[in-house]
Amino acid sequence: VLGLQSRTDPEWARAALGDEIALLRDHAHLERKAAGHVITLLGRLPDAADRLLAVAREELAHFERVAALLARRGAGLGPDAGSDYVRRLAREGDGSLLDRLLRMGLIEARSYERFCLLAAAASGDLRELYADLEKSEAAHHALFVKLAHERFPRERVRARWDALAGAEAAIAASTPWGARVH
Ligand SMILES: [Fe+2]
Ligand SMILES: [Fe+2]
Repeated sequence: VLGLQSRTDPEWARAALGDEIALLRDHAHLERKAAGHVITLLGRLPDAADRLLAVAREELAHFERVAALLARRGAGLGPDAGSDYVRRLAREGDGSLLDRLLRMGLIEARSYERFCLLAAAASGDLRELYADLEKSEAAHHALFVKLAHERFPRERVRARWDALAGAEAAIAASTPWGARVH
């Protein structure tokens, strides 16, 4: 799926949906942080401002949509518990623009994969949410990879993607299942 080197066991979705409020809270913060990371990236890619701002707006819209589902369930946003998956992935590679773009592309690809599984396992408003978001995260993945290809040689992008995707697959496999997107 989208250049990922592993597939998530579909059973994972049932574990994630075991606590809807916790899953939605983790998800809301994930969207909020995604918007922030894209805004930060814009500082390094001013020529891609239009495309990045469009992504940031979408991530904020996702955040608002997930927050509204929490409100509908009588729950607030709650504090951000943080993500071990994201923290560990951030330590892979370096601070170069190429690695940053590819790490962001990997997170989007994994989010796409997870939302597909969640859409298949959920019902009602949650199924609708995940089905709508999966397309959007796949498009974000494609944009980050495209931005990398516009700036770096094909072979180098391929080599860094392979290395980071290998690390990402290992991190995803060793992160315990829970009511989280990752
Ligand atoms: Fe999103
Ligand atoms: Fe995204």
